[in-house]
Amino acid sequence: MTVRLNLLAPEFRANPYPFFAELRRQPTLSQVDPLGFWAVSRYADVLHVLKNPQLFSSTGHRAPSEPEWLGRHNPFADSMVMVDPPQHTRLRALVNRAFGPSALSRLEPRIHAYAQQAAAELPLGRPVDFVESFSLRVPAAVIGELLGLDASLRSRFMRWAEHVNNTSATPPDAHERHAQIRATYAEMEQYLKEVIAERRRSPREDMVSELLAARLEGEALTDAELMGFLFLLLIAGLETTIYLLSHAAMVLADHPEVFARVRADRSLLPRFIEEVLRYEPVAQTLLRLTTAETELGGVRLPAGSHIMLLLGSACRDEAQFPNGDRFDLDREGPQNMPFGHGIHFCLGAPLARMEARLALNALLDRCGGLVRDAAPVKWHESIIARGPTVLPLIVLPR
Ligand code: HEM
Repeated sequence: MTVRLNLLAPEFRANPYPFFAELRRQPTLSQVDPLGFWAVSRYADVLHVLKNPQLFSSTGHRAPSEPEWLGRHNPFADSMVMVDPPQHTRLRALVNRAFGPSALSRLEPRIHAYAQQAAAELPLGRPVDFVESFSLRVPAAVIGELLGLDASLRSRFMRWAEHVNNTSATPPDAHERHAQIRATYAEMEQYLKEVIAERRRSPREDMVSELLAARLEGEALTDAELMGFLFLLLIAGLETTIYLLSHAAMVLADHPEVFARVRADRSLLPRFIEEVLRYEPVAQTLLRLTTAETELGGVRLPAGSHIMLLLGSACRDEAQFPNGDRFDLDREGPQNMPFGHGIHFCLGAPLARMEARLALNALLDRCGGLVRDAAPVKWHESIIARGPTVLPLIVLPR
């Protein structure tokens, strides 16, 4: 590849997979724009990095999340996804229980109800933006429920998630955009501060109250850690699941034979969801920083090198997934790579899988088919996540 790949180029946004395949064919790693990071495209190399967190630090997420124009500390940088052991071990232990099996079974009937309602209210037989009309509804209600936030503010949560996620990809000269993003951080921090203060005064049965009460060897989360965690949940837990549902809908629209099979046999749903996650990984890139000199993908990297793990490429790597560019409902799974690997493996993976299963089940009960509308799909601008922000579809009645 002679020209450096730009992850923000429109042709890459529309379909990154041929570019990833080209990167995998290169004998060594190469650098990609806009950040100049070393891009790791092969499954085996990505796994190697994720298995060695002492050599590949998660603080690599930080620098792009705090560009100079932001002019402030990003609370996200205090969250567990951007720190290494021992700080990470402590944070993860403090919040682990809130995502365990008993917390999930408590949530399940509520998620089921949200899914049923979202499907019942979905307009049929005419073009809709599927993101707004369906994908957004269940994850926003779940995050609202988890954190005890007002779910009617869901379009605001969405803007927050989008702005925070876009921080690293916003060009240095996009001054108007910078001002909007700065305002979002201030608004989000103010809102979450009020939620924390309110739960301190009168605890409820929600995660914020539980986290305020949580102790590990007598130690509580600091305010900065708690704020960082709430930022992380809003970003990691909302957009990701919305995009997963939208990717699932696109696959169902593009593969009517898959739609027919899954609709007729719902025991195929978990397998379908795994293959959607592999075929269109929502978290496309993870960032790391080398802590010592090392060799990776045929390149000698000094300590302090910024690297970008291309999960979107790893999940299509033919060396791991034969016919990786084909959506194959009969592929053996589960494929955990879309949720990362090792100590930072996604804390919300069981929750995301449950939300997707309940939401898609409700959708399949209600509709007789999904058809693409002629209007174009709009893709998110982040370099971290891949998903449509507008998805024009027609949902056919049964
Ligand atoms: C389709 C849905 C989702 C995908 C594809 C996804 C993907 C990921 C990935 C790849 C990581 C690893 C990051 C790294 O190693 O740097 C991660 C971490 C994380 N995710 Fe998810 N996620 C999803 C949904 C959720 C949900 C619903 C929640 C919670 C409500 C959540 C919470 C987290 C948290 C807290 C971490 C940090 C874990 C740690 O650093 O130890 N995620 N996620």
